[in-house]
Amino acid sequence: MASTYGAAQVLVASNRGPVSYTVGEDGSLDAKRGGGGLVSGLSAIGSDADALWVCSALSDGDREAVRRGIGEDGVRMLDIPADVHADAYNGIANSVLWFVHHMLYQTPLEPVFDAEFRRQWASYEAYNRAFAEALAEEAAQGAAVVVQDYHLTLVPGMLRELRPDLRIGHFSHTPWAPPEYFRMLPDDVAGQVLRGMLGADRLGFLTERWAEAFTACAERFAGGLGGTRVGVHGLGADADFLRKRAHEADVEERMAALRQEIGEGRRTIVRVDRTELSKNIVRGLLAYRRLLEAHAEWRERVVHVAFAYPSRQDLAVYRDYTAEVQRLSEEINAEYGTPGWTPVVLNLKDDFARSLAAYRLADVALVNPIRDGMNLVAKEVPVVSDAGCALVLSREAGAHEELGEDAITVNPYDVTGTAAALHEALSMRPEERAERSKRLAAAATALPPAQWFVDQLDALRG
Ligand code: G6P
Repeated sequence: MASTYGAAQVLVASNRGPVSYTVGEDGSLDAKRGGGGLVSGLSAIGSDADALWVCSALSDGDREAVRRGIGEDGVRMLDIPADVHADAYNGIANSVLWFVHHMLYQTPLEPVFDAEFRRQWASYEAYNRAFAEALAEEAAQGAAVVVQDYHLTLVPGMLRELRPDLRIGHFSHTPWAPPEYFRMLPDDVAGQVLRGMLGADRLGFLTERWAEAFTACAERFAGGLGGTRVGVHGLGADADFLRKRAHEADVEERMAALRQEIGEGRRTIVRVDRTELSKNIVRGLLAYRRLLEAHAEWRERVVHVAFAYPSRQDLAVYRDYTAEVQRLSEEINAEYGTPGWTPVVLNLKDDFARSLAAYRLADVALVNPIRDGMNLVAKEVPVVSDAGCALVLSREAGAHEELGEDAITVNPYDVTGTAAALHEALSMRPEERAERSKRLAAAATALPPAQWFVDQLDALRG
């Protein structure tokens, strides 16, 4: 009998893939490759391993590429109907599961699990099924499959049914909600998510805290872990890449421009985030305003360089949040600014080179999320900063488990406390700051992305 199995020995599945296409004016397709941990992880296993990355077609260009049969070796994009994808991605993944795990709901009014939710949930199931079927088709006998994130929680269970021979792993890049919050989901949906995840041989999380929360949910709502193993793999900064990239000409150019904007002899407080509700950018700005109010000595002597890159702008709450970040920045500038000094330099345009320039100039990095799976910015700034930087870090970021000792820890809701932490960071003696920054950089690069991926794969096969 001819085998119906595919050829891939190592498969990765994620919503966002390593490449995206845009349609040019003449109708040609332009491919843009992304970076990130998974990309360097996969390249580390080598090209002879028959690796395949299964992802969604996200843009019009992506869909067009699938239709024209254009693609990259080792990548398969799934052209899931746009409305099904939108319901699954915007409706369920980003508006429900993301909110649950980051505990973002304003609970007197939300969530509302109604007929609309049920309709979107059906799309989430269909979208997960499309991934499971593609993986089942492509995987060689006994292959290893690593499924990524909250978009694809049902895939391990579905794939297990289709292909019991496979080794199936799932990795969560987000926090996991504690049982008391997770149980907000309708019981049947909560059960489906947990059983879907528990279809995997092994589940990976970024920290002990998220792994424990998942285990607690499984014990309370799904009768335990069954045969599924749970492991922790913290993801570190890619030091070699960052240090090299941060010294290229375009970054140097942007440093010169940024120095001009900041002004001679001033300190800089840097933050770099997607404009994301969980990143707590608004309270960060309130804390900065409080710093200027309570410590008049810093007026004219410090600039807050804040990057808030557009993200998930299909969702109204994200658009409103972006507008609030903008409004508050302008308000602070109007309140405290002087002819030669702009207290907040806000950057809403995605410009990686400019954010690296800010990393290099940073005296203080502000990373104050409400809840965060890891937060790589906290790890990247100490690695790149020229003179060493002080890190003000939320205790609710996964990175805090590794960096807490040399960071200045804040409760992300405590604006007064965060203002005091900023003052402490700005006042730190240069020698102490440099020493702490060095230790932060060492801790931040302990687990490079390539190693992170290989470790997961070894554990899955082991
Ligand atoms: C988080 C998720 C990732 C996601 C990223 C960007 O870090 O864990 O899976 O890719 O956000 O979000 P986006 O919705 O733009 O893919």
